[in-house]
Amino acid sequence: MSAGAGKIAVLDFGGQYTQLIARRVREMSVYSEIFSCTHPLEAILAAGYQGIILSGGPSSVYEEGAPLPPKELFDAGIPVLGICYGMQAMGYLLGGHVIPAERREYGKAEITLQGQSPLLRNVEPEASGRVTVWMSHGDTVLRPPKGFTALANTPNCPVAAMADEERHLYAVQFHPEVLHTPQGRTILDNFLTVCGVNRTWSMAGFIDTTVEAIRAQVGGQRVLCALSGGVDSSVVAVLVHRAIGDQLTCVFVDNGLLRKGEAEAVVHTFRDAFKMNLIHVDASRRFLDEIHGVTDPEIKRKRIGAEFIAVFEDEAKKLGDIPFLAQGTLYPDVIESVSFRGPSATIKTHHNVGGLPLQMQFKLVEPLRELFKDEVRKLGELLGLPPEIVWRQPFPGPGLAIRVLGEVTSDRLDLLREADAIVQEEVRQAGLERTVWQAFAVLLPIKTVGVMGDFRTYAHVVALRAVMSQDAMTADWARLPYELLGTISNRIINEVKGINRVVFDISSKPPSTIEWE
Ligand code: XMP
Repeated sequence: MSAGAGKIAVLDFGGQYTQLIARRVREMSVYSEIFSCTHPLEAILAAGYQGIILSGGPSSVYEEGAPLPPKELFDAGIPVLGICYGMQAMGYLLGGHVIPAERREYGKAEITLQGQSPLLRNVEPEASGRVTVWMSHGDTVLRPPKGFTALANTPNCPVAAMADEERHLYAVQFHPEVLHTPQGRTILDNFLTVCGVNRTWSMAGFIDTTVEAIRAQVGGQRVLCALSGGVDSSVVAVLVHRAIGDQLTCVFVDNGLLRKGEAEAVVHTFRDAFKMNLIHVDASRRFLDEIHGVTDPEIKRKRIGAEFIAVFEDEAKKLGDIPFLAQGTLYPDVIESVSFRGPSATIKTHHNVGGLPLQMQFKLVEPLRELFKDEVRKLGELLGLPPEIVWRQPFPGPGLAIRVLGEVTSDRLDLLREADAIVQEEVRQAGLERTVWQAFAVLLPIKTVGVMGDFRTYAHVVALRAVMSQDAMTADWARLPYELLGTISNRIINEVKGINRVVFDISSKPPSTIEWE
């Protein structure tokens, strides 16, 4: 971050949108950092943050052990914005009347504005006379604390927004950070104006801050980078390389589960073009042995994840004392693998987060942990990575093993690789490579009957998966043109011996996921 730039702290109470708040602030060119709600307030104040946003969270203020900010926060003299649970905590601590809502309000709601406030400047009522927002809460502020005025209401929620203008304390019951609150951005922007922050932060600034942070974390020690050739690990490698130069050794684990031609491309790009210190480990056999006979997706993921770390540890041993491992973990990986409380939110075990074995010996360097995919791409472009890498579609750590449904064998991998290469080629040819988030083939664990010439065939089925998405947290199936679907199907069935049927996946996430396993 450049000197004199403004910055905003986000206190995290375990809300699912906390990172989104930080991201929105960044989008408005203000640096923002997330702190756990237990982080000492004095440290935040001493670091010169000019405003604090309290995130949402799953708790009720009346719950035993509910996380609450220190009360002094509200007397610290800097603007505070409470969002959802953050508003309830503010209301409760300052003596307002907070009650469990009669009906839990979840989803779209319409607020009626009342009064004037800098927080609501330029927020315009829609044709209905009200303003659409996204609600997700149990507790409700029934009466604002002393010094506050209510700024909005819904039939269900008498105080949907409130402000104490004198102390610059603001709160909204809804979520201004999500796109479902169309004027949410204006509200956050207004809060930044109240904070008086300079809007000078940029992705270039992120590079500087992160390079500094990596140097501070790593010191004079060495770092191994898990380079896969995907955009995330490539950006991490270049970023870490920029920070510590020769202290970085990149290890490319060829797990034998990559797409056609990918292993060769990785070696070529990073060794030849980027002149990085790259070790290519051909570990295909080890991985295949490890998942031999395994059909359960979670077991596949866990074994591949564990093997991935084991290979790294073997390489590290050969390279001497390397205490750090750099990884391209992104924000969607983090929230899908880690829950704030309890295990219920684990959806899939991602190899680079939840699947790490406990005995792992590396300390992690994860500079992209708070970024979304499109932000990483922007960063990659700034770092001078070529478009083929910056725009490469996301690819899962367990690779084709979770796209060969059921048992994974070399033969079945080969079949999928050929079919998948056709999908990639045709999608690229149609100019849709950047429009779709991901497009790939999945080999199903069934055979179906077909007819080829005069012969009956009994062969494999490939499913075509193509999705549109912003960040992989939700996704819609891509409406690929029929012409393209026809070409892909024809080519796969004609060119890949052993496949006689292609189907198209028309499910969205949620409730389906992008990958099939
Ligand atoms: P799902 O299938 O959970 O996928 O909707 C969301 C996004 O994550 C990718 N994905 C993974 N990435 N390791 C990764 O690094 C994994 O184990 C993994 N599993 C899924 C998936 O391709 C999609 O972009």
